Amino acid sequence: MSNLNSINKNIELEKKSVKDSETLEKMRLKFLGKKGEITLLMKDLGKMDPEERKAKAEELNKIKDSVNNFINSKSDEFEDELMSNQLASEKQDLTLDSKISDGRIHPITQVIDEVIAIFTDLDFCVAEGPEVETDYNNFTALNTSENHPARQMHDTFYVNSETDGMLNVLRTHTSPVQIRSMLEGKPPFRLIAPGKTYRCDNDQTHTPMFHQVEGLVIDKTSNMGHLKGCLETFLKEFFETDTPKMRFRPSHFPFTEPSAEVDIGYRKDGNQIIIGEGDSWLEILGCGMVHPNVLKNVNIDPDEYQGYAFGVGIERLAMLKYGISDLRTFYDNDLRWLKHFGFIPLDIPSISGGLSR
Ligand code: PHE
Repeated sequence: MSNLNSINKNIELEKKSVKDSETLEKMRLKFLGKKGEITLLMKDLGKMDPEERKAKAEELNKIKDSVNNFINSKSDEFEDELMSNQLASEKQDLTLDSKISDGRIHPITQVIDEVIAIFTDLDFCVAEGPEVETDYNNFTALNTSENHPARQMHDTFYVNSETDGMLNVLRTHTSPVQIRSMLEGKPPFRLIAPGKTYRCDNDQTHTPMFHQVEGLVIDKTSNMGHLKGCLETFLKEFFETDTPKMRFRPSHFPFTEPSAEVDIGYRKDGNQIIIGEGDSWLEILGCGMVHPNVLKNVNIDPDEYQGYAFGVGIERLAMLKYGISDLRTFYDNDLRWLKHFGFIPLDIPSISGGLSR
């Protein structure tokens, strides 16, 4: 019995050293592991005569049960402790001020949504294209000659990569979406393509990244009169006025003929901008009849099909409609500015929010 006494002593001593699940596991191995003290004594039972074995086995089983009980209850205790520590450390402080200010819709996103809403009412659909574009789609297919100034490094961001052996650029306008859409589908077309555009320009009236909405209508009969009517309807809707003041100035774009730029007339009254009055003008878009060479480049017969295109500057629209006087503030990421000029979101997904950016 002497070794049973000593094992009981050992157990009592060991119990005192148990502080956590690690020391508890050590204790389990010490007594109940493969070479544990109790396990070894159990093995010795086989060598004893039946009477002694019976007595010792009973004794040993009691010790084993008591060690097991101790281990189980300690293990529960440690688990509870772990859980309550975790709960305490992950506790949410519900007394924190919950008036964290809501986000705002940036005026650019808002204007893109408004433009989409107006043109989709006029039966246009929405197309998209990538911001890294081939030099071919951005220039060549749009009838822009090899030595056109727009192709120069100081006007265009060239990207250090090629697609199918063609140089890539950050698109300088949304017009390459015309090319992509016409190559993908069959006429007639009636689409708009909003998105980001890039030019090597940075001053008071230019930012290196800005936004445009392209418009394209191709069918058998659309003409310059339709273009004018379409833009007028758009401006009336957008500026919510029956009398937008607009002027068409003859211009030149390689991909339209004839071409025009459109200015919108306004007057400033203090901080307020009044559209349709006064003699200040802001250029907001370029447009024209799609050049026959562009149609040929996308395998459309210019003797059968014709149409118009336009490219509108989104920032310009936003500045006029919402009285924002400095273009560069759009991209300063000043939260006070966004709070002032931004829009409180409705609880419905925005249209342009669904477009890839
Ligand atoms: N892509 C031209 C620009 O960025 C605008 C435009 C679009 C002009 C379509 C004519 C037709 O200035």
